Amino acid sequence: MRERGPAAELWSEAMSPSERVNQLRALIGHHDQRYYELDAPEVSDTDYDALQRELRQLESNHPELVDTLSPTQRVSFAANTLFSPVEHLQPMLSLDNVFGWDELVGWDARNRKLLEPGTALRYVVELKIDGLAMNLTYDHGRFVRAATRGDGKIGEEVTENVRTIAAVPKQLICEDAANVMEVRGEVYMPRRSFEALNERRAEANEPLFANPRNSAAGSLRQKDSRVTAGRDLSFWCYQLGAVDGGPAFTSHSEALSFLDHCGLPVNPDIATYDTLETVFERCMHWQEHRHSLPYDIDGIVIKIDSLAIRSELGSTSKAPRWAIAYKLPPEERTTLLKDIQVSIGRTGRATPFAVLEPVFVGGSTVGMATLHNQDQVRFKDVRPGDTVIVRKAGDVIPEVLGPVLSLRPPDAPEWIFPTDCPVCRVPLVRPEGESDHRCQNVDCPAQSFARLAHFGSRGAMDIEGLGEKSVGLFIEQGLLNDVGDIYDLASKIDSLRALDRYGETSITNLLGAIEGSKVRPLGNLLFGLNIRHVGSTIGQVIAKAFGSMDTLMVASEEEIASHEGIGGVIAKSVADWFSDPEHQLLIERLRISGLNFVGPAAPLLAQTLIGMSIVVTGSLEGFSRDGAEEAITSRGGKSPGSVSKKTTALVIGAEPGQSKVTKAEACGVPVLNEKSFVELLESGRLPD
Ligand code: IVH
Repeated sequence: MRERGPAAELWSEAMSPSERVNQLRALIGHHDQRYYELDAPEVSDTDYDALQRELRQLESNHPELVDTLSPTQRVSFAANTLFSPVEHLQPMLSLDNVFGWDELVGWDARNRKLLEPGTALRYVVELKIDGLAMNLTYDHGRFVRAATRGDGKIGEEVTENVRTIAAVPKQLICEDAANVMEVRGEVYMPRRSFEALNERRAEANEPLFANPRNSAAGSLRQKDSRVTAGRDLSFWCYQLGAVDGGPAFTSHSEALSFLDHCGLPVNPDIATYDTLETVFERCMHWQEHRHSLPYDIDGIVIKIDSLAIRSELGSTSKAPRWAIAYKLPPEERTTLLKDIQVSIGRTGRATPFAVLEPVFVGGSTVGMATLHNQDQVRFKDVRPGDTVIVRKAGDVIPEVLGPVLSLRPPDAPEWIFPTDCPVCRVPLVRPEGESDHRCQNVDCPAQSFARLAHFGSRGAMDIEGLGEKSVGLFIEQGLLNDVGDIYDLASKIDSLRALDRYGETSITNLLGAIEGSKVRPLGNLLFGLNIRHVGSTIGQVIAKAFGSMDTLMVASEEEIASHEGIGGVIAKSVADWFSDPEHQLLIERLRISGLNFVGPAAPLLAQTLIGMSIVVTGSLEGFSRDGAEEAITSRGGKSPGSVSKKTTALVIGAEPGQSKVTKAEACGVPVLNEKSFVELLESGRLPD
């Protein structure tokens, strides 16, 4: 299936290859202008790359359609007229991309065909910094000019703005500086500075930058360099351009050492390898650890070290053959916002969320993303029908960054927060001074469902077999209404037997799990009761502070607040909850059912995993991410975030992180599914 994106939108099967080629060239030209000239891209890099790839494929299948003006043959883009044009002494080329091992091997094989058989190659592996390419010119060691890449031959002069960047030396510290030397590198904004800048802009009601790259570009494209000076920009250099005089080098690594010796900032994460396998391992390493860097990267650059071999290989009009960019999976994509809906949580909170055309981003497919609350929807100004930018960085929850305004349908109305609960139709209320709307109806079926599902979940009472599906079914069948009913299920065994999906074993297991949950620590029970502001940690803190349900039930708000770690808002919420007669009735029912009401100490689980290190990736059905980690650590095991040779097993759920799986396979680490994971937890043994 063709991916959604601007190409797909305009694609018609009736089109001839030549029509499609023209269309792709026009589209790429348009997106080049949005990206390079206006700092306002309409599509993600991946969608743009897809256009370029399709065009390249068509041109290679139809050589008669190749044109020297095609975007595949030239470096994008023409210089902006805001700043004076400046000609680079040596052209600034772009890089071709590869995705995955096979394409990397393909690049290497193409090079080897052009070289003497058996030529030994050394590869320098660098980070591909996601910023703005910059050409610095030094005259006898003095910084005299900075220019953007522009069309590769002519860029825009931004000397005064770049002068404000502390990382760019104004005078080189070496004595052997060349007469003239072009230094190429990337101007970027560290992620934290980007976040701080956006926070300031939000406070000042100014439009936000979508990502650090755009904010670096916007900060450089300023007529007043004082504005640039106020932005925290930095610089890494990675390449020499034209050089007149100075020392001679035989390799790129030597050139980088010289740049470092001159006082120029050379990125420390540069490594040299002799085989493509080790190069690929390095790429995998960065795929896994990109978030440990304080700035964004969008790939890894692999360069052949020997300058003699470089000149043998040469360049196309667009990119050198001796270097390649290994692209990392995208963390930002554009997709259609199909709808905005509202979900009702266990405490009645009404949360708007985006229903998206599913899109593969940050290593998994995203179809929904929270929009938090009414103010966030207003602030982001997202509307159903919009094309939106979705970001998912690593394990971070997917986020809708904002709309692509230029693609907004002309009739898209602003989204209005619903006045009534979408489930029980009772009016939603947004209390003065709060950002959340709430459904006030405690009997709202959505709330009952969420409360019951939460009570049985791993972090709370951990009732195996009482997941969302069963809760939904039991509510529908009138077997469950509130938390107290869970412990009456044993007396309704005939109704359970009448359900299609429940065999005798499932029923026995479920009732066993319910019985087993009665001994859970008081802290888990408090967390399970759905008291506003009482999360899992606060549940434990309160249990420890009061030691029993009975002491807590009669405690005043002040008494509760007097304990270390329990703030006034939490104390009020707890006291209010216990003063509600319905809740008091519930507590009495739970007492009669025989639940543990005392003591903070958790019964110690069998320590089956001592000395084991188990990594989890992807989503498991019966465990949340924290729940899986807790299941491991509470049995004496470790649960680190990454796979190494020391890992005992990798557990994979739906949509696992591919790099973890690859790494596990490479290190010979056993890969387990959820069923084997549960067996491992219980027995401490790996499956045969
Ligand atoms: S070398 C002729 N090295 O990526 C080789 N480029 O897509 C030119 N980039 O225009 C580039 N980090 O803006 C090189 N370590 C690195 C890089 C890097 C980021 C950017 C640069 C370039 C673009 C190509």
